[in-house]
Amino acid sequence: MGRRAMSQTERTRLWRERARHGLVGRTRAGFELLPPITLPAGNTITIIVGDCRDVLPTLGRASIDATVTSPPYFALRDYGGGPKAIGLQPTVAGYAAHLVDVFRLVRPVLRDTGTAWLNLGDCFCTAPPGNAPNTTALSSGLPNSIANQEMRRAAQVLVDKTKLAGLKPKDLIGIPWEVAFALRDDGWYLRSEVIYSKPNPTPESTRDRPTLSHEQVFLLTKSPRYYWDAAAIRERNRNRCSVWTIPKQIVRGHSAVFPEALVERCILAGCPPGDTVLDPFGGIGTVGLVAGRLGRNAVLIELNRSYAELARQRIEDQTR
Ligand SMILES: C[S@@+](CC[C@H](N)C(=O)[O-])C[C@H]1O[C@@H](n2cnc3c(N)ncnc32)[C@H](O)[C@@H]1O
Repeated sequence: MGRRAMSQTERTRLWRERARHGLVGRTRAGFELLPPITLPAGNTITIIVGDCRDVLPTLGRASIDATVTSPPYFALRDYGGGPKAIGLQPTVAGYAAHLVDVFRLVRPVLRDTGTAWLNLGDCFCTAPPGNAPNTTALSSGLPNSIANQEMRRAAQVLVDKTKLAGLKPKDLIGIPWEVAFALRDDGWYLRSEVIYSKPNPTPESTRDRPTLSHEQVFLLTKSPRYYWDAAAIRERNRNRCSVWTIPKQIVRGHSAVFPEALVERCILAGCPPGDTVLDPFGGIGTVGLVAGRLGRNAVLIELNRSYAELARQRIEDQTR
């Protein structure tokens, strides 16, 4: 807990909550449960360090009410997760197949009335120098050793995208839609494409196309009917529209975090109060942070232990 000792009642409630998610007695080789965070309102945030494909099958069936996630971009960054990391597959089809696998594992743990929000960004068939080193880490205020590691990893050539089969150099790949169609083929209902529009995009040196300033957020469901609270995200007397203009957020410690305002809309519309949100690619915990503030529980899975620990710290600090 960190901030104060837990009462017996809290312990019992926490145990029940963990049992509901199939987590009691599950700390074993392959993944690890960090000490759970209980917020003043009584909701809990559980962070698990491991490959989401190992962890998801251990969660309780139908124990999750909504999934909100942003997997690593295709071939853009190495988040230091080692060989089990998703995102560094050499082909678009391979990347999409890995995400379909993950979502196949999400399906049994998600309630039949649950929603799954998937944020994905696109990229171009550029030569390796197009993988511009990400400099967020340098200005992040992180200890030098961590910042240096981030920079080194970001500067590595990941995948030569000009060699991708069926694509020409300079082509826009269309990754979000590749993945969305693969998930729809796998049985998910593809209910909406939300455009997450960034008024503060990363500047690009390109002179022959518009600057890329949006990403997709797909709303997927298990069933044709699902929990949906339209009133919770209504805008100026009308139903919420599908273009969401939200500034991207820079947060110390991770180069690709969700803006909190985006996560907030997904949770408010797609997860009943008091219920549980899952992020299988937890990063530094934005989904847990927002879920906690909104009175929901959260289960976060993250491969890189340093990020998982930062997530725990961030949630502890910001919900005190
Ligand atoms: C785009 S980041 C998510 C950031 C998160 N939305 C946030 O706001 O902090 C994707 C994360 O997925 C993690 N990851 C990659 N492969 C994974 C896997 N197989 N299982 C769990 N996490 C994984 C990476 O370490 C990275 O932190």
